[in-house]
Amino acid sequence: RPLVVAVDGPSGSGKSSVSRAVASRLGLAYLDTGAMYRAATWWCLDQGVALVDGDAVAAAVRAMPLVMGVDPKAPGVHVGGTDVAEPIRTTEISAAVSAVATNLEVRDELRRLQRAAIDAERSDGGFSGGRGIVAEGRDITTVVAPGADARLLLTASEEARLARRALEIHGQAGVAQVEATRDQVLRRDSDDATVSSFHVAADGVATVDSSALSFEQTVDAVLAVIEQ
Ligand code: CDP
Repeated sequence: RPLVVAVDGPSGSGKSSVSRAVASRLGLAYLDTGAMYRAATWWCLDQGVALVDGDAVAAAVRAMPLVMGVDPKAPGVHVGGTDVAEPIRTTEISAAVSAVATNLEVRDELRRLQRAAIDAERSDGGFSGGRGIVAEGRDITTVVAPGADARLLLTASEEARLARRALEIHGQAGVAQVEATRDQVLRRDSDDATVSSFHVAADGVATVDSSALSFEQTVDAVLAVIEQ
């Protein structure tokens, strides 16, 4: 029987890397829904759409030729023929993504694609051959897949989240790097929180706090919740 795992959490909680590792371990597909909002933002900017024009943004996203890879070992992101895996991680996109992700028509469209990707992994024809999927984001446990077999909120203290982000972006997590990351990360989280509540676990959602856990320990904690 296919297994659907939903993981939500704020920036720097480790949800992407942990979800990928869990999916690999269990032979499941992996869906990075944040990458879809990032790709939508990249596409709007590429098409010259003004992000303040909500109707134009929604229309552009509905026409976006997005292809999401769901292999946890190499989850590609393509828009049309363009590989956007790297360009969607720039600070320019990180700074602009909330403007696109708070557009409710954009959310409707991307949620529809996300549910289709999850459904495809419930059938034999999907990447996982019917084993299932780990889908990760801000609203997966609550809106996209509230009926998932396992639902988790991955959290970490603000200090731990900022240190991880600083390490990712600057390769170091000293005082200067953490300070440079602080405004960017906290502002994006507070903008995102206007449309999704990913700081508190919804009913029936298990919380894993990774603040004091290593990467491997966090993966094990998530696997333990799934096995319950
Ligand atoms: O960089 P980080 O891991 O914090 O974020 P991400 O997972 O790459 O998601 C990028 C952005 O996409 C978030 O800041 C949200 O604005 C948006 N997002 C969303 O609105 N809903 C989701 N399910 C996933 C991401």
